[in-house]
Amino acid sequence: MIKNKMQDAFNKQIGEEIYSSYLYLSMAAYFETINLKGFSHWMRCQAQEEMFHAMRFFNHILERGGEVSLPRIEEPKHKWESPLNIFQDGLVHEEHITDCINKLMDLAVEEKDYAAQNLLKWFVTEQVEEEDNFMEMVAKLKMIGGNQPSLLLQDKEMTTRMPGLNPWLDTIPAAPVGA
Ligand code: FEO
Repeated sequence: MIKNKMQDAFNKQIGEEIYSSYLYLSMAAYFETINLKGFSHWMRCQAQEEMFHAMRFFNHILERGGEVSLPRIEEPKHKWESPLNIFQDGLVHEEHITDCINKLMDLAVEEKDYAAQNLLKWFVTEQVEEEDNFMEMVAKLKMIGGNQPSLLLQDKEMTTRMPGLNPWLDTIPAAPVGA
């Protein structure tokens, strides 16, 4: 059975992950308004993946006899200056999420909650991939600069991202690449 302290921290993290999904969905909408549908597709996939992350905490709490209590979700930003600015914001956000995961791991160690540590190990690995994805896009968009043909080419490349599993139904996620 999960203890209250860990349960409350995981409920808070469900909110962080759903906010991430909300933020990336807002970014997807913005990309579509500036006619970059490939980038929009990539962000829709990212938003779906974040719901999956939220559901991992949701399922973990329930599987251990805990109580899910969903927190309030803040309104995300809905306008950006450029594609580069969007991915820079995404990177800052992912660094924040890494910090949240690290703090949860500190708590799980302190509480001697081995099941929670197991779950969080997956997230520690996942966050390396998440930050790397955003860092790579920031670097690429800096290289592209104001070159419109290169931006359109990158937009096409972004359509190749495959959507993940159904976050509401699938309880066993694919391991992060390299895990
Ligand atoms: Fe759920 Fe992008 O971290």
